[in-house]
Amino acid sequence: MSSPRGTLLLTGANGGLATGFISQFLKSPHATSIKGYYTVHNPAKATNLRTTLERAPKSHEYEIATMDMSSLKKVRQAAEDINKQVANGTLHPIQALVLNAGIQDTHEQNFTDDGIEQTFAVNYLHNFLLVLLLIQSMDKEHGRIVIISSTSIYPDWWPNKDNYPEESQKTFFTSVEQLARGEASADDAFRSGLRRYAMSKVMMIMFMYELQRRLNDSPSLSSISILGLDPGWVTTEIGRNSPFVARAIMQLFQVLAPPLSLFWPNIFVRTAKKTGDDLLRVCFDNKKFGEHPKAAYVDGSELGEPSEESKDSEKAGALWKGSLKWAGIKEGDTVLENWK
Ligand SMILES: NC(=O)c1ccc[n+]([C@@H]2O[C@H](COP(=O)([O-])OP(=O)(O)OC[C@H]3O[C@@H](n4cnc5c(N)ncnc54)[C@H](OP(=O)(O)O)[C@@H]3O)[C@@H](O)[C@H]2O)c1
Repeated sequence: MSSPRGTLLLTGANGGLATGFISQFLKSPHATSIKGYYTVHNPAKATNLRTTLERAPKSHEYEIATMDMSSLKKVRQAAEDINKQVANGTLHPIQALVLNAGIQDTHEQNFTDDGIEQTFAVNYLHNFLLVLLLIQSMDKEHGRIVIISSTSIYPDWWPNKDNYPEESQKTFFTSVEQLARGEASADDAFRSGLRRYAMSKVMMIMFMYELQRRLNDSPSLSSISILGLDPGWVTTEIGRNSPFVARAIMQLFQVLAPPLSLFWPNIFVRTAKKTGDDLLRVCFDNKKFGEHPKAAYVDGSELGEPSEESKDSEKAGALWKGSLKWAGIKEGDTVLENWK
């Protein structure tokens, strides 16, 4: 049996997209060469993950670890533990870091124990912190950081239009202060929750471009790629707090996706299996998007184009500066040279 030479680190590994991805990963040759480091809220409750792993080939090495993405301190602790393991050789460098954990607070606005608006914290800010801390443990030749984007980033796309009834609501970045304090879309209504979710995803894409620029400037880190995947619409538990009708519509995706894909293979309504394959490709494939798919934005199985605002480099710079402050990044936290 050949031993793994790299690590796949996946957050939110008990979720719908994650287990669809792991299922496809386990069927691939990568399952032997890459160790799975699956992080979850609570390993004792990770039943979907454990069921999925029952089908793992014997050659697949894996570990299930705790990573609570709702606390700055807990993200730091988890990252510290991983960095120690990579530094002492008990864990191989991270070949793919998949930032999958995510929430949709669509019934009320919540705040973390650090006092930060929860969607902004879990879906964006804590990923920012995690990545900066873990860069030292990335495979410096082939490492890929993958963000999970969403169709919600397009304010003018027809299914999103009702979420942004006012023109001013179509601009997602105002200031980091407003986003972190939860003032950017403040009430408990369903559509406010969807807007907070969309904002967090746009922030992740801005982060993707800004981090890639900074990685490119650092000779020892310039082969690391950060890329985004829009998984489309997949039936999972992401809408668990949404009204009944929205949840029922989400259940329909798994019925509609297979027949629709016969005519339009990359249509936005997708199965967890297809998204699993798409995620596998952005993590490990060298053919379709190249060996170093730097800041590539992928829609399912094809190159895509994020919204205009997501590509605004001035906003991305302001977001970065504000995020350093809110995530509490200090000297010595990251090996990224130009982190300030
Ligand atoms: N499904 C879609 O159509 C769709 C579309 C676009 C983007 N996405 C994105 O895909 C990613 C995965 O979502 P999904 O659809 O698979 O939904 P899901 O089934 O709800 O999975 C999300 C996972 O994130 C975990 N998570 C949430 N908060 C966490 C925290 N504080 N700490 C650690 N883990 C946490 C959840 O764990 P617990 O259950 O233990 O809380 C859950 O396992 C998300 O980033 C989502 O935004 C999904």
